[in-house]
Amino acid sequence: MKRIAVLTGGGDVPGLNPAIRAVVRRAGEAGLEVLGVRDGWQGLIADDTVPLSRDAVSGILPKGGTILGTSRTNPLKVADGVSRIKATTARHGIDAVVAIGGDDTLGAAAHLTRAAIAIVGIPKTMDNDVWGTDATIGFDTAVNTVMEAIDRVHSTTESHHRIMVVEVMGRDAGWVAALGGLAGGADVILVPEAPFDIDEICATLRRRHGTGRRFSIVVAAEGATPKGGGSQQTVQGTQVDAFGHPQLGGIGAALAGEIGRRLKIETRSTALGHVQRGGSPSAFDRVLATRFGIAAVEALAAGRTGVMVALRGPAIVTVPLDEVIKGTRTLDPAIAAMIRLFW
Ligand code: F6P
Repeated sequence: MKRIAVLTGGGDVPGLNPAIRAVVRRAGEAGLEVLGVRDGWQGLIADDTVPLSRDAVSGILPKGGTILGTSRTNPLKVADGVSRIKATTARHGIDAVVAIGGDDTLGAAAHLTRAAIAIVGIPKTMDNDVWGTDATIGFDTAVNTVMEAIDRVHSTTESHHRIMVVEVMGRDAGWVAALGGLAGGADVILVPEAPFDIDEICATLRRRHGTGRRFSIVVAAEGATPKGGGSQQTVQGTQVDAFGHPQLGGIGAALAGEIGRRLKIETRSTALGHVQRGGSPSAFDRVLATRFGIAAVEALAAGRTGVMVALRGPAIVTVPLDEVIKGTRTLDPAIAAMIRLFW
């Protein structure tokens, strides 16, 4: 093996740059050249690559986002996508690809593996919902950002004697809502895994305000749904991305309207949105990304492809991509039970 490529796909997170840097550094040790692919799978389809030397990745460790750019391009939905990717890898003598992404990027990686492209995946997503790993790059930073935001919201909500609904990301998994909400001391936390009952939420808030409390914080994952609502998530517009996902958003505002109307307490909402995916990676994410980047190159050098590197307890292991794409890693039931204790 002489040359490998690295790409970042799907939504960006803080920690992608440390992973790219680690791939380049470890590959250099192994005598491998690295090509950076711009904008995820799109760069392999369109032959948009850039050589990544040790100098090129110097200083990127603390930077959020990805120096390579990203996209939600689904190579399986692009005409001749797979053959164009094969042509690009052949043209540049790319022996293997390190694909850093969430379930969509890794799902495409699993398919491309079957088309005889050598790939090792690295799990990243602020949602922490990739099957087969205890943690994904970007999750820890997002939880810290949500905690800080809730701390800030606390003081203003308390001063104004309001109820504040904080909407956070999390389409199918409530990891960010649960851990961010726990860390920030939210009074009610709503996750996609457990459809909510608006009567119960209002009863909880009424009880709290009846015992002298004059403010409350509700954290709602964007993918939270009402009980009996047929799992219908609140969406913005009708557009879906290349992987079929609609743009979620609005559950926070809808809940605030309903809670305010029922309780006659001024209720506002704030959606944290992409703020959760911005900024400098936490120490945990920098170290995790570094470990994943190194492990990915070592897996390739050992001839192990069609796998994803993963965190299991303290160890970094590899998991077949075919296993990874079987499911979504939803919220640990023990944590789901824990958040109910604080209602
Ligand atoms: O994939 C992670 C995620 O953060 C989801 O929770 C969210 O729905 C989505 O990305 C939004 O990303 P974008 O607005 O960039 O498409």
